[in-house]
Order: sequence, then C-alpha cells, then structure tokens
Amino acid sequence: MLTKTNTSWNTNLYEDKHAFVFKYGEDLISLLNPQAGERILDLGCGTGHLTHQISLTGARVTGIDSSAAMIEKASAIFPDIDFRVMSATDFDFDEMFDAVFSNAVLHWVLDKEKAVDCITRNLRTGGRLILEMGGKGNVEEIVVNTRKVLTRHGYYHNAARQLWYFPSLGEYTSLLEKKGYRINYASHFDRPTELKDTENGIKDWIKMFGSAFFDNIPQEHIEPVLEEIQEAVRPTNFRNHKWYGNYKRLRIEAIKQ
Ligand code: BEZ
Repeated sequence: MLTKTNTSWNTNLYEDKHAFVFKYGEDLISLLNPQAGERILDLGCGTGHLTHQISLTGARVTGIDSSAAMIEKASAIFPDIDFRVMSATDFDFDEMFDAVFSNAVLHWVLDKEKAVDCITRNLRTGGRLILEMGGKGNVEEIVVNTRKVLTRHGYYHNAARQLWYFPSLGEYTSLLEKKGYRINYASHFDRPTELKDTENGIKDWIKMFGSAFFDNIPQEHIEPVLEEIQEAVRPTNFRNHKWYGNYKRLRIEAIKQ
C-alpha cells in the first residue's frame, strides 16, 4: 500500500522508519537558538517532535502542518503544545513571531513565493527564518529513475508530476533577499541518509514520500515498478549492505529587514 495521498500521511510509517527527518532536524534547533519567552512558529511540524524540543527551552512555540493526520498525532503525543492544521501558503496569526523554523518542509511547497510572503507577514522585523530543505540535486537518482521507469511503463502523466522543489542556494537566497531578508548563514551540503530497511529501503522511501507519482496506477502494477526503480538506483544508493537517500540540504538563516 502507498502511504500518502494529497491529504493524509501514514504517520506510523513516518515515526517508525523515517524518524531521521526529525532526528536530523535536532541539529537545526542549534541554529535557531531559541530563547525563553520567544514566540516561535514551527512551520510543517509533522508529528511535533522538534516543536516539543523547542518548547523545552521555554520558548512559546506553535506548530502548524497542512496534514490533519500529522497534527492529530502531534497533539496526542504533546497535548500541551499549540498545534494547528494550516497550509504553508495560507496562514495568519494575530501576533507576529520572533522566529519561524522549518525543517524538511519547504521543498514540498511549489508556490515558494506565496510561502515566503506568508512567512514574512507573520514574522516581526528583525525576526529570523531558520530553514532546512532539500536543495538542488536532492535525491536525484530516485527522482530521475522514478520518472524513467514510469515512462517505460507508459505512465507518462505520472512521470511528469512535479512533487518537490529543490532550489540551488543562489535561487533560494535570492528569493529571500528579494522579499526583504538579509542572509546571515547559508549552506548547501551533502547528507547521505541511511534508510532503515536494508531490503526495501528505497521502495519504503518512495511509498512514504513519493506516493503521488503512483496516483491512479492499478495497485498490482505498483510493486513491480517500485522494484525496478530500486534496482535502477542500486549502483548509486546501496553501499555496505545499506540503502541510502543521497540527500542534499539547504540550510539558511535569514533576518527580516
Ligand atoms: C527531503 O527531506 O529532502 C525530502 C523528503 C521527502 C521527499 C523529498 C525530499
């Protein structure tokens, strides 16, 4: 079974096999450097683990996510935190935030201008935007081979789907500068990410994150296609008996002027 539709995530598979998403994000909290009493927005909070860690510093943190399933789970695990279902391109709060924090989310937001405008509207002048997202070249072998295999099987519309936006450092920092930010820190770096399942690591990853590539494909055709994709990336994504996602991250600290 594929695990994400446009509106629902398999939060159990996320917590079980893809916890690296928030584990790696812990490091980003150091860059955020939250202070007690600060008002912080965790944009795309998922199941709320990083939101919780930020809250432990005494910051007043709110987590938002467009997935109702994620917010339901986050609220169940951390009932004392303010979590809300809201889209990254359409949110407004009465009070401005001192910082907006976003880990592994903005590559899902194809309307990047709208997302940055929304963040800017809700961030005080002098406030900081701390983000990490997939950058240019991120999981490239998986994306390229998913498109190739789908095309080979005649699923041209599926192959052409744009699920993610992986900008270069220059592209994203230029966008932020255009929107009135000063870039304090920016980096584009490799982070080979070990996938948990040594047999089906790539297939599981695609089921978790890339299921929209398989919309409307008959269930019985999906498994063989996934198998072909996994084999196609074996030379680049399998080493020392483990599967890896060849992640390339953008990490940015930007200050609203
Ligand atoms: C990422 O964190 O780089 C990522 C996660 C899911 C899909 C695509 C990219």
